[in-house]
Amino acid sequence: MIERAKQLIMPILIGGVFIGGLVLMFTGNNTSSRGDIQVGSAIVPELTALGQQGKTLFDANCASCHGQNAFGTAVGPPLVHTIYNPGHHADEAFFRAAGGGVRAHHWNFGNMPPIATVTPEDVAQIVRYVREMQAANGIAAQPHTM
Ligand code: HEC
Repeated sequence: MIERAKQLIMPILIGGVFIGGLVLMFTGNNTSSRGDIQVGSAIVPELTALGQQGKTLFDANCASCHGQNAFGTAVGPPLVHTIYNPGHHADEAFFRAAGGGVRAHHWNFGNMPPIATVTPEDVAQIVRYVREMQAANGIAAQPHTM
């Protein structure tokens, strides 16, 4: 009688653990689409803590030209753009841009001046933010071909 009960219960227990694991896999670990919101044509993901700090710094120091959500303005290009994918503009490009400015070469907005209000630590957080925005908007690293 006890043996029979074990035979009935064991598969249920094992099945329960298995299904529980599946549920965790799909709910606990999936950050790719959770919390994304659409703002205009931008998809704004749920940012990491670093990404969120980067956004605050970006909004204060870069958004006047590079725009809300890094989608560009009339005076500066979008950084959420395939040109700035990590394969073509590695993170160093951001440190160089903020530290020394940029001579116009991809667009017709004119030069970017050096941004004296940010430290390299700030730029590291800004890069994190821009990369999270790029990833959410389908911009993946491509090999440098230009
Ligand atoms: C006064 C306007 C302005 C501000 C403020 C500004 N940028 Fe720019 N930025 C530009 C323009 C214009 C370009 C495009 C130059 C070109 O034609 O390639 C540019 C280009 C860039 C590039 C591409 C560099 C490359 O190697 O091609 C990066 C990265 C960048 N900006 C980062 C930033 C960051 C980070 C901030 C804030 C700390 C910032 N910019 C603030 C105007 C601005």
